[in-house]
This record gives sequence, structure tokens and C-alpha cells, in this order.
Amino acid sequence: MSTDAHFYEPKDGHGLVHDPFNAIVGPRPIGWISSRAGNGVLNLAPYSFFNAFNYTPPIIGFASVGAKDTLRNIQETGEFCWNLATKNLAAPMNQSCAAVPPDVNEFELAGLTPAPSRLVQVPRVAESPVSFECRMSQIVRLQSATGSETNTWLVLGEVVAVHIARQLLRDGVYDTAAASPILRGGGPADYFEIKPDALFRMYRPGQEPA
Ligand SMILES: Cc1cc2nc3c(=O)[nH]c(=O)nc-3n(C[C@H](O)[C@H](O)[C@H](O)COP(=O)(O)O)c2cc1C
Repeated sequence: MSTDAHFYEPKDGHGLVHDPFNAIVGPRPIGWISSRAGNGVLNLAPYSFFNAFNYTPPIIGFASVGAKDTLRNIQETGEFCWNLATKNLAAPMNQSCAAVPPDVNEFELAGLTPAPSRLVQVPRVAESPVSFECRMSQIVRLQSATGSETNTWLVLGEVVAVHIARQLLRDGVYDTAAASPILRGGGPADYFEIKPDALFRMYRPGQEPA
């Protein structure tokens, strides 16, 4: 550890220009979540407090900081889709985060096309090359270390169907960089794009190829 470290306790403030927390825990993949309200209105919004948590069954999750429309929709219907945010979709992804009333369809707002899903009633983003159809498995209200309730809900869902644009498959292997995924950094505006030159390989001890 550096002897010249900036130390702070988050409860007392970070003392910097921007909160470094999400710049440190970053870049984060983006949970671009489509959902449908009980009354049928479609919704689309990005969530970068997002990740994958299990293989079998595959489970993904995102955190709604505050009770937002996506959370309410999933509480109502139990379904959602995840869509891969790519460099060419950066602008519409960003537009879909607009704080608009629940009756506004962010697909229309961002000029995106809803594509029907197969197993759930929530459409995918047709322009996105990869989508997961998901069924909600748990909604967990987060607590502080002392047990006080926060205003944040972790939404977890089982991935029940996967759509992958075939051009992202090379000899049967999914090529992560080929889609140019974008990830969220810190500060008010930082993003990262994954390009092939970011790749390096390291096998687990004992699992090196012969
Ligand atoms: C890249 C990006 C990541 C975001 N990540 C989150 C997040 O993890 N949690 C959250 O509550 N809001 C996040 N937001 C803000 C929401 O997208 C925004 O509040 C949106 O209006 C919520 O939409 P909804 O009410 O339709 O669900 C993010 C915004 C952007 C642009």
C-alpha cells in the first residue's frame, strides 16, 4: 500500500472533486434493462450497478438506487430483458436514462425498436446484438452494516433465454470485443469501450493448456 494515500470514511464525505467510488469499481458493464408495466407501457433504462452472479442457472442483477420505474415494472410483472450496450448504441442508451414519467416509452424516446421475446412478454432492443430474457428471482432491499434500510433494491433475475447475433460467434466461441461493448467509468461522463487490444489471457494455476 502507498504510504501517501488519500484516506476517507465515506460517511464523512470523500473530500475529492468527484466521488471516486464508481471510478474505482469500474468500468462496469451496463445492465440495459427493458421492462413492461402492468398496464403495458414499455420501459428501457441503463443500470451500471449491474453484474452476473451465477452460472447454473445463470443469474444477473442490478441495483435500483431509489424505487424507479424498472423496479416497479419488475415487481408487477416478474419479467425483464437485458440488452448489450455497444459503442454504436451509446447515444440511445444514454437517452434511455432520461428521468421521464412512467407513461413514457423510452424505446420511442431513444428511437429504438422493440423486438418480441420468446419466453417473456417484455421486448428486447432489436438494435442490440445480444439480449437475455429474464424472470425475476429475488428483489432484495439493501441494508447498511448496522442493519438500517437503504433506498436501494437489488433486482436479481434468472436468464431463461439468450439471443446472440451470429456474427459475434467465431468458430463457436463468443467474441466479447467484436460487439464493441461499452462500460461505465466514474465521474459524470466516463465510459470505456472494449476493443480487441484490451485482451490478455491468464489461466488458473494447473489449468494451463498443454
Ligand atoms: C450508464 C448509466 C448507468 C446507470 N446506472 C444506474 C444504476 O446502477 N442504478 C440506478 O438506480 N440508476 C442508474 N442510472 C440512472 C437510471 O438509468 C435513470 O434513473 C433512469 O431514469 C431510470 O429509469 P426508469 O425509472 O425507467 O427505470 C444510470 C444511468 C446511466 C446513463
